[in-house]
Amino acid sequence: MTEAPDRRSEDAPGRGPDRQHDLGDCRVLAVKTGRWKENAYVVVHRPSRDALVIDPGGEADRLSDLIAGEDAHPSLILLTHAHFDHVGALDDLCRRYDQGFYMHDGDAKLLRRAGLYAMSFERRAVTVPATYQSLDGADLAWAGGEIAVIPTPGHTDGSVCYDLGGLCFTGDTLMKRLIGRTDLPGSSGGDLKASVTRLLDQLTPETTLFGGHGAPWTVDEARAWWAEQGDSPPEYAMEGVMR
Ligand SMILES: [Fe+2]
Repeated sequence: MTEAPDRRSEDAPGRGPDRQHDLGDCRVLAVKTGRWKENAYVVVHRPSRDALVIDPGGEADRLSDLIAGEDAHPSLILLTHAHFDHVGALDDLCRRYDQGFYMHDGDAKLLRRAGLYAMSFERRAVTVPATYQSLDGADLAWAGGEIAVIPTPGHTDGSVCYDLGGLCFTGDTLMKRLIGRTDLPGSSGGDLKASVTRLLDQLTPETTLFGGHGAPWTVDEARAWWAEQGDSPPEYAMEGVMR
């Protein structure tokens, strides 16, 4: 894995990704969005220029510029879950690329409330599309190969991880040395811990994990960390924790 250093400050939009990783045929471009530095991802399959967008929390222009800069076009827009900090650029990107987006049915209520939460937590106006495409039975086709959807309820009912084979997008289920919050409406600490254990059991050790906040790490590193955790693993606390 190669990682480029941060290329830009947060107040200079439109200049490139905050992180970039080349893994096999895929290039992962990450943009930290919003007050809580949510990771919006563009994944480009370099041989075909086919792309995925995962959790577009904000900065629609910058994400579009990155996609254009790779001479790519997104085939799929995916959500790991429907918390407000992961959906801010969703409506804009769905319109620009004339397509819908996929998420798990378990987060339908959260999606409907995303605008309300964005306003109360962040004083930010967020509009989300009125409809979504269900991951239930969906055929997630893109040029980069199979996308395995792994349900990981706990942080939210409808949380999922996307395993692209060698790289996995884990949303707020699992971040580097942190799990997602479990004190929110609909969260379950017991379910989240079971989901993390199941997720780490089924992925290969060399898989790179890209979380909803913070830096990537590997399954190998995550397993070692998880084995050290007791009943109360540290949770992402929204502010002051992530870099
Ligand atoms: Fe979340």
